[in-house]
Order: sequence, then structure tokens, then C-alpha cells
Amino acid sequence: MRCKSLLALLALSVPVTISACEGECIVQITNAYVSNYTTPVDTVMHGLAQRVSQMLPSHPDISTAASYLEPLLSAYDDAAYMGMETAIFPRYFHGKCQQNGVDPPGCPNPDCPVVCGTPGSMVHFFPTLRSLAYNETRARIEAAAAPDSGAYKQVEQNVLDAANEHWRRVSLGRIMPRAPSKTKSSQDIKNQLQSILAQASTMLGEACADDGSGDSVDNLAQCSWETAMKEYILTFP
Ligand SMILES: *[C@@H]1O[C@H](CO)[C@@H](O)[C@H](O)[C@H]1NC(C)=O
Ligand SMILES: *[C@@H]1O[C@H](CO)[C@@H](O)[C@H](O)[C@H]1NC(C)=O
Repeated sequence: MRCKSLLALLALSVPVTISACEGECIVQITNAYVSNYTTPVDTVMHGLAQRVSQMLPSHPDISTAASYLEPLLSAYDDAAYMGMETAIFPRYFHGKCQQNGVDPPGCPNPDCPVVCGTPGSMVHFFPTLRSLAYNETRARIEAAAAPDSGAYKQVEQNVLDAANEHWRRVSLGRIMPRAPSKTKSSQDIKNQLQSILAQASTMLGEACADDGSGDSVDNLAQCSWETAMKEYILTFP
């Protein structure tokens, strides 16, 4: 009897609300995207390491070249979670549909004028979600690889150190006469590094099969994870 009336009370007092993606839901969905993106991001890092290895006079192996690029990956890793959470949630899938506690006209339904931050809405607008996650990842990689970033300067130093070490060995070994144009060569290395790192976002585009059509349904086939992501998103209430 008591239970029954409590249930009746709840049924009367609790309006039918669509639950928004909040708390755990935000954290876990953000983590799912950041974690899925480790694969294409690693592909980019590997491609950059290959080019750096080809460019350096010592042609180090890929893992050595990748170690020179480590500051880039660290800068990306440090920014990835917060960037992704901000890009997906406050900027686009903003919480409840309700404005001042009232559903706007036509809401809640997925196509209502306000994009709700509900799991259902995220699935409904999946191509937009996919595109947001991709654009955000690309922006973070571009920021880390930009010549004015701290990571860039560290990578440049690593690469110059490697080149200088090579030149020192060559001149000690008297394999060649002391390079008279060493300053110019350092500048060459800097220029070549800059053009390699400038390709990072194009390389992410290749890894993700970005066809340039933004948030269209067929775009980003390699960074979609559509079935798994939709299923995962819908595990949240
Ligand atoms: C992408 O994330 C979803 C949700 O966490 C997971 O089920 C899926 O296995 C992931 N796919 C890849 C390729 O990482
Ligand atoms: C992502 O960026 C592309 C342009 O690079 C743009 O066309 C698209 O609309 C962006 N996606 C979102 C969801 O903002």
C-alpha cells in the first residue's frame, strides 16, 4: 500500500524528462573518442617519423625518429581529453533540451530546434558528432605541430641535435672534409622539418578517409566506428 502510493506519487510528481548526457556519460563518451583516435594518431606519428628519418643525414630507424617526435605526441595527449570534451559537449550537445525548465516548442524530439545533449540525439546527429571529434583531433594535432608551439621547438632541437651528432662523427672519422656549409645545412633541416610537420593534418585526413565533405553521412569512414559508437552511446540512459 505504502509502496503503491509512493509509486503513484512519483509518477505524478516526476515529469517525463529526457535525461541529458551528463557526468559519467560525458566522461565515458569523450574517453571512447579519444581512445579510438589513438590508432589514426599513431598512424600520423609513424608517417611523420618515416619522413624525418628519410630527411636526416643519419637516417635513424623509425623508433629513433619517433623518439625525436615524442614532444608532439605528448602535447597532443595532454590536450586531447579536455579538447574533445569541450568540442562535443558544451559547444554542440549542450545538456538538456529545456530552456529555463521548459521544453522549447517541438521538443523533445531529435529534430527540435535545440540540439539536446541526450544519447538519442547524439545517435541521431551521428555524422555531426563524428565530424566534431575529427575536427577537434585535427585541430589538436595542428596546434602541436605549429612552428610556434613549444612541442615544435623541442622536436626541432632533437632533430638538429641528431644532425649535428652525425656531422660531428663524419668529420671526426675524416670520411669527408669538415662540411663548410654546416650553417646552411642546419637551416635546410629546419625547413624540411617544417614542411614535414605541416603535413600532419593531411596525414590524419588520409588515415580517417576524409573526403572533404565535412559532416556528410559517408565521410570519415575510417574514423567513424559507427556501429560500436552508437551502441556504446545508447548504453547511457
Ligand atoms: C571505439 O569505441 C567503442 C566504444 O568504446 C568501442 O566499442 C570500439 O571497439 C572502439 N573501436 C576502436 C577501433 O577502437
Ligand atoms: C569540420 O570541419 C569542416 C571543414 O574543415 C566543416 O565543413 C565541418 O562542418 C566541420 N564539422 C563540424 C561538425 O563543425
